[in-house]
Amino acid sequence: MDNETLTITDNRTNQTYTVPIYRGSIRAMDLRQIKNGADDFGLMTYDPAFMNTASCQSAITYLDGEKGILRYRGYPIEELAEDCSFLEVAYLLLNGELPTQDELDNWNHEVMRHTMIHENLKKFMDGFHHDAHPMGVLMGSVAALSTFYPDARNISDAKCRRKQVVRLIGKMPTLAAYAYRHRLGLPYIYPDPELCYAKNYMNMLWKRTEPKYVANPVLARALEVLFILHADHEQNCSTSVMRAVGSSHADPYATTAAAIAALWGPLHGGANEEVLRMLDEIGSNDRIPAFIEQVKQGKRKLMGFGHRVYKNYDPRARIIKRVAEEVFQVTGRNPKIDIALELERIALSDEYFIQRKLYPNVDFYSGIIYQAMGFTPDQFTVLFGIPRTVGWLAQWQEMLVDTDKKIARPRQIYIGEDARNFVPLTQRGKRQLVTA
Ligand code: ACO
Repeated sequence: MDNETLTITDNRTNQTYTVPIYRGSIRAMDLRQIKNGADDFGLMTYDPAFMNTASCQSAITYLDGEKGILRYRGYPIEELAEDCSFLEVAYLLLNGELPTQDELDNWNHEVMRHTMIHENLKKFMDGFHHDAHPMGVLMGSVAALSTFYPDARNISDAKCRRKQVVRLIGKMPTLAAYAYRHRLGLPYIYPDPELCYAKNYMNMLWKRTEPKYVANPVLARALEVLFILHADHEQNCSTSVMRAVGSSHADPYATTAAAIAALWGPLHGGANEEVLRMLDEIGSNDRIPAFIEQVKQGKRKLMGFGHRVYKNYDPRARIIKRVAEEVFQVTGRNPKIDIALELERIALSDEYFIQRKLYPNVDFYSGIIYQAMGFTPDQFTVLFGIPRTVGWLAQWQEMLVDTDKKIARPRQIYIGEDARNFVPLTQRGKRQLVTA
């Protein structure tokens, strides 16, 4: 359309500029021509935390935070969670289309064939302290994979990229399960490629001395659904890290390890662990009002609430609430669900949360299910990282073939000292340094 432009008047110079609007955005580089004088660098945008900046174009995940919509490759998350296996969704995210039966069979076979890890990596994992946090173990072992697969550095070769994608998706549950058993001092269980993705993971986690561990089908399906819900979420913190680190052409193992680090933070994927600790601390419904009061006074955060993009109910939290009831039919009710439900009820009727559009996010209920299944809170973020690896890799692949892609390198607004003369050490008097 001809009128898809923006006209800007620079009041410093009275000059007018017209820049194109593309899909509701302007290119920040189009502002560089706006100068105050010949020596001026040109106008930049200032957007800490990317509150209003699109860092890429993507065809993978669509999210409308106002309406509470989430779609992978155009398919509503609710339908995928109802009807698909996790690896089927992984195929969709990575390839853009749902697989045919043959494609799915081959894909399942391919991924499950790559579930084993090198024995030396197992020894490497043995070196972690017995109480090492499983996210630290996962991050370290994923980074270590790059030393086992030096071919992975060949990121410009599509066939080679695909190989690392399959390896990573196959090996994540194995690494996670080994981290779990390492902590408990239990012998590692080798993967069983005959099982589906979730059941294989459960087998590696929980098999003891029985000749054949049989995963409860309801719990296995619940885990697959949780994996589907966590598989991708467009340009969140860890995915942005994946793209930024990947843009330097680091190999996918090092890049994924960086994304795991970002996911671990309590404001991102680490929130599921924090929610459980918070519910433990609250302990009973009668203590909720006092806790909410502390949150409103800014002394605490209601973990598992709020989202940068969702300003309406997180559709994943709605599905997780339903899955929780199915899991409890098998495991018995986790009493924390009642504290969580009451916390949600009180928060959603309180002006503080209404005004700020704070709703439960994906992390609010997931930990309660994981705990009912037998996971300890420090495992929760690992359970997020396994499926999110698929999203990270889909976004990484998309980034590498994007013709607009360049190394990620933001600008800054310098607010430090102007040029000044050096002071020799002997002439520097006493002063108090104020550090950040
Ligand atoms: N509890 C209490 N107040 C909150 C919360 C919360 N969980 N979240 C936001 N607020 C308040 C802020 O204090 C702020 O209030 P103010 O306007 O009076 O200053 C207002 O709501 C807006 O919050 P921001 O921090 O500006 O929102 P932002 O988009 O930067 O942060 C975030 C989003 C990090 C998720 C935040 O809501 C939060 O810390 N939530 C708790 C941690 C959490 O659950 N993280 C998981 C997110 S989902 C995921 O990553 C998988």
